[in-house]
Amino acid sequence: MADEIIPPTPSEEAYAADADQGDVFTIDDPFALFADWLALAGKSEPNDANAMALATVDEAGLPDVRMVLLKDVSACGLSFYTNLESAKGRQLAANPKAALCFHWKSIRRQVRFRGAVEPVREEEADAYFKTRARGARIGAWASAQSRPLEGRFALEKAVAAKAAKYAIGEIPRPPQWSGYRLMPSAIEFWVNRPFRLHERLQYTQQEGGWAKQALYP
Ligand SMILES: Cc1cc2nc3c(=O)[nH]c(=O)nc-3n(C[C@H](O)[C@H](O)[C@H](O)COP(=O)(O)O)c2cc1C
Repeated sequence: MADEIIPPTPSEEAYAADADQGDVFTIDDPFALFADWLALAGKSEPNDANAMALATVDEAGLPDVRMVLLKDVSACGLSFYTNLESAKGRQLAANPKAALCFHWKSIRRQVRFRGAVEPVREEEADAYFKTRARGARIGAWASAQSRPLEGRFALEKAVAAKAAKYAIGEIPRPPQWSGYRLMPSAIEFWVNRPFRLHERLQYTQQEGGWAKQALYP
């Protein structure tokens, strides 16, 4: 059964046909390098080049992972938005550390970040909330993210109730809806190379800057 659904291991010929990406580590600053790769991915990914896997750890030490969307990036860190009472919100409250992983299939590259997580400022969350479509702002009020849902109808009822409540005027940001910023202490860039001899470049934060180290694939 698995043989039918799992793609076969590439042959010699398939590896040989892999396009050579040339030198991809052309920028020294890791945030500028990441921005360069994300911009490139945005040109070829079918959707959501800013989607990233967010790994957190619960109170029992059990890891969890799910996709979220990157909404801002700077030397201060990477931010994303969510419901603070969701599973990830509870996990981050108990253990404010996380990892992020981008994988862009269209350019065969991966970037990973690890570090401490802090809540974004209220004004930042307000500013981003305002940019969301009206329906998405209503949705943020209606969804008790990660809690049991009796049926789709319960969600539709909650959406209708919030839409009626906020029929006119501004929709305020729900107090339980905000963002987090991961401040990386390590960043790793990976690019596909033939025969699984991939190239990895790890940046680790040092006093006054970033140290660079190539890693075996
Ligand atoms: C491509 C993609 C992007 C997503 N972006 C977000 C996001 O930015 N924020 C969010 O709360 N959930 C997002 N989700 C949904 C999450 O993966 C997840 O289902 C939800 O946040 C609940 O996760 P939790 O129960 O672990 O807290 C996204 C899902 C996908 C597939």
